[in-house]
Amino acid sequence: MGILKDCINNKEISSIPIWFMRQAGRYLPEFREIRSKNTDFIKLCLNPNLSKDITLQPLKRFPLDAAIIFSDILLIPYALDQKVEFKKNFGPKLGELNVDSLLNISDTEITEKLNPVYKLIKETCKDKTLTTKDLIGFVGGTWTLLVYMLNKKSPKKLNKGIFNYQKQDELIQKIIKTQKLHIKNQVESGVSLIQIFDSWAGLINENEKIHKYIYQPTLEIVKYTKSLGVDVICFPRCIKSYQEYCDIVKPSAISIDYEVDPIKIAESIDIPIQGGMDPKCLLLDKNVMLKNAKNYLEIFKNHKYIFNLGHGVMPDTKPENLKILIDFVKEFK
Ligand code: CP3
Repeated sequence: MGILKDCINNKEISSIPIWFMRQAGRYLPEFREIRSKNTDFIKLCLNPNLSKDITLQPLKRFPLDAAIIFSDILLIPYALDQKVEFKKNFGPKLGELNVDSLLNISDTEITEKLNPVYKLIKETCKDKTLTTKDLIGFVGGTWTLLVYMLNKKSPKKLNKGIFNYQKQDELIQKIIKTQKLHIKNQVESGVSLIQIFDSWAGLINENEKIHKYIYQPTLEIVKYTKSLGVDVICFPRCIKSYQEYCDIVKPSAISIDYEVDPIKIAESIDIPIQGGMDPKCLLLDKNVMLKNAKNYLEIFKNHKYIFNLGHGVMPDTKPENLKILIDFVKEFK
């Protein structure tokens, strides 16, 4: 257990906790090397030895406070027997969805298919690197998973057909049940925190739909995760109102995107806040990058704050810049 959890639980901490979404990824040459020999991304996620090494890669280089398991939110559709592929320069590509047979897949079958993820967690927990650090497990948000399963690729804009999908309610209930199972299995394997990535939360504008597709399922999952004794960070990227989201969903901490005004967030939200800085700042001149970081650190000075970005580390980021940024955050008083 590490200072991320301490920060969320209002305990004394010696410095501002820091980790990055996509901290293990294509910007690291050591990741690209493994990836070039493992062209099937899902298979790589389901190889506990390699996925453990990848999970620990960023911690070998940088003094980060947490590791996030190397996995993907799309392992849930995969476990529900929907084909998932990753095409170069295209992103995820999902296969046909057979809802009737999907509804019949048992929890035992799902756990069996995702067992390598739980093995990865158990093995990673044993590693010395993590004795004083947090290990973060995760799931996609119900809405984001629904979007991927029905749209079958990353959406450019909202596909309204999603709302008219015939067996929508049964599908949503099955996704929620699988998310809970996957969270429970990750917690039992040893993760100390859960993050919910609702990357497409910003696609919905209508209040009624936000309640149905985002607030209701996420509240249920947050309550469930807390009942297991584990804190949960939510990342409803570009949600219409973070304040309303926090009031209703009540996560343990909230991760913000880079488009929302951090000053308004600091004024209106009192739970621990994570992230915010634009990942593109890491591609800029070092001084400009640090000026941006300082801005977030100053704004959240009187808040419980976990340093992170407003989305994942971009593939063309120089690892040296991450190091400069981490050192700066660690020295900030
Ligand atoms: O953050 C981490 O370091 C942990 C691992 C992690 C990955 N995906 C590894 C990955 C996490 C937490 C995710 C979550 C995820 N996956 C999200 C939510 C966060 C977000 O980015 O909005 C989403 C939407 C996905 C689905 C997904 N998987 C996408 C859109 C992509 C990118 C495809 C592309 O070509 O850019 C992936 C692939 C993926 N997942 C990569 C990594 C390191 C890149 C794989 C590669 O091609 O080498």
